[in-house]
Amino acid sequence: MKALILSGGKGTRLRPLTYTGAKQLVPVANKPILWYGIEAIVAAGITDIGIIISPETGEEIKNKTGNGDRFGASITYILQDKPAGLAHAVKIAQPFLGDSPFLMYLGDNLVESDLHLFIEDFKTRKLDALTLLCPVSNPSAFGVAKVDEQGRVLQLIEKPKVPPSNLALVGIYLFSSTVHNAIANIQPSARGELEITDAIQYLIDQPKQVEARQLTGWWLDTGKKDDLLEANRIILDTRLETSIEGEVDENSQVIGRVQIGSRSKIVNCTIRGPVTIGSNCHLENCFIGPYSSVADQVSLIDADLEHSVILEGAKVVGIQQRIVDSVIGQRAQLKVAPQRPKALRFLIGDDSQIELV
Ligand code: G1P
Repeated sequence: MKALILSGGKGTRLRPLTYTGAKQLVPVANKPILWYGIEAIVAAGITDIGIIISPETGEEIKNKTGNGDRFGASITYILQDKPAGLAHAVKIAQPFLGDSPFLMYLGDNLVESDLHLFIEDFKTRKLDALTLLCPVSNPSAFGVAKVDEQGRVLQLIEKPKVPPSNLALVGIYLFSSTVHNAIANIQPSARGELEITDAIQYLIDQPKQVEARQLTGWWLDTGKKDDLLEANRIILDTRLETSIEGEVDENSQVIGRVQIGSRSKIVNCTIRGPVTIGSNCHLENCFIGPYSSVADQVSLIDADLEHSVILEGAKVVGIQQRIVDSVIGQRAQLKVAPQRPKALRFLIGDDSQIELV
């Protein structure tokens, strides 16, 4: 069994963060989203992994993620020159996939469940496709499935205006090599893409063995700011382990599960976990509240924050009010003068959002 991770796309819903980087590399609890997927795949016993990359962000993904050694896997990068659909990605990956059955994983998804149970089910029932479903309140934003009581999939529709159920297709699928024939027989959709939902529908109509399983536990599609904060909260809540490598002075208090990376200095701060702080950070006179992730090389002075994500190299100085539910991008700077400020002075990137609430 091989795995194919799709890690292209423009990440328009995460702008401005994705102007300078791939959405799959945006960190959740200080680790790129994509790496959680790779780890879940390796934990399920699959080590031969292809990653689909785009010309815009491919190099960055390759440089950061490497050849797979750090995950105990072998990674092959496959360039998709245009965003022509999920089924198109499978088509260009065919030389890598050969006749092998494979797990397909959309690189910005995170799930709680172990994948190996689904893989076992797929193998023992000799299926041609197994899709994972999750009930959602806004099915029109996803691919949606209609299933019978046995879990057989009757129909799949991509982003339906009138959804046939509330069961969204999670971005994780298992396929036998039969899917290549299905993809060869479908046409681009109205949005000009070769849709994986159409390929699965082709398999259903053949008829081939297509089934679905509902996920237990959480599923996060980290496409937007609030999803990203929610993913950060859940990962910190469920997976963070205490480890303090940096220096914490005697005037600071560290409470609960907290991670502090090497060469970071914490001076006169209260840190209330779950919180992760990267390496080479400087924090002075701060309160860092639960569900916050602070990346490497961040400087926070006279600041108070909670349920927020601060990316690499950002600087926050002298903000008296609590910063909440916020994502602050790489190298961004937020400074307030010690005397009561008389003016607000900004250099704000495109699509940024500032709310004084
Ligand atoms: C894709 C799929 C959709 C699926 C979703 C899950 O949509 O086309 O069927 O429900 O991923 O994240 P996209 O996120 O590309 O709009």
